[in-house]
Amino acid sequence: MSDPSGPVLEAIDVSKSVSGPEGTLTILRGVSLSVREGESFAIVGASGSGKTTALSLMLGLRRPTSGTVLFEGRPPASGARDAVHAFRRAVQPVYQDPFASLDPRQRVDSLLAEPLRWLGDPDAARGDRGGRPSRRERLVEALRDVELEDEALLRYPHEFSGGQRQRIAIARALITRPRVLLADEPVSALDLSTRLDIVRLLARLQAEHGMTLVMVSHDLSIVAELCADIVVLQGGRVVDAGRTSDVLSDPASAYTRALIDAVPRLPQA
Ligand SMILES: Nc1ncnc2c1ncn2[C@@H]1O[C@H](COP(=O)(O)OP(=O)(O)O)[C@@H](O)[C@H]1O
Ligand SMILES: [Mg+2]
Repeated sequence: MSDPSGPVLEAIDVSKSVSGPEGTLTILRGVSLSVREGESFAIVGASGSGKTTALSLMLGLRRPTSGTVLFEGRPPASGARDAVHAFRRAVQPVYQDPFASLDPRQRVDSLLAEPLRWLGDPDAARGDRGGRPSRRERLVEALRDVELEDEALLRYPHEFSGGQRQRIAIARALITRPRVLLADEPVSALDLSTRLDIVRLLARLQAEHGMTLVMVSHDLSIVAELCADIVVLQGGRVVDAGRTSDVLSDPASAYTRALIDAVPRLPQA
């Protein structure tokens, strides 16, 4: 099938090993994947299958032992400081536990502005102010994107529910106007009742901002709703890959079949 939108993120035959007291542990083995621009992409697999490691390679926080990871054709977070900052603005992470990822001593306004302080704000660097939103307007805009009121700016993370905290974490990821969000089990720490709200929020943001979303999840019902493409990892290897609807209706591996069979609402055909 032709692919009108090319890959924004790619892994080509990537392996990752670490050495420990018991010798070399291979976490990822020959992983290849291709994330299309503007699409949502799921990485699925049991705990320990290498999902978080795969994301850390795409974020440029760790390097592959062999193989290649590419963001727009270049290794992530590579080059001079300005290039690394531009990459970090363009590719933002969202973590599982919004309490751990938000410094409890900082007010929401300061938390939201933090990525701009670290990574710079190309908007602010442009000389004339004409028409350009102020810093506060940027923060308010990010909050509105995640359906929180302006007054949240003056409050602290502990004053919010888990779902609201994850909204704040997502707003902070949006503040640099990223083109890609890498979300590592973004709803698994939340109450069942708020999970779907956050999933739908991510889906809306992805569509409205034309962002690419890579989401790690072990919940196939969420993946089926949200993600066009999927890879399934088992023990650091890709055992299934393709369009989510194709993989879920006709998986290549017994492992994926077992995952599907564990979810009553999915087609069992
Ligand atoms: N820095 C590291 N040192 C040693 N082992 C690691 C390291 N990072 C990950 N691992 C191991 O690699 C495996 C996969 O980890 P991870 O990528 O976190 O999997 P997942 O996110 O799918 O649960 C696990 O067995 C984990 O203990
Ligand atoms: Mg993980």
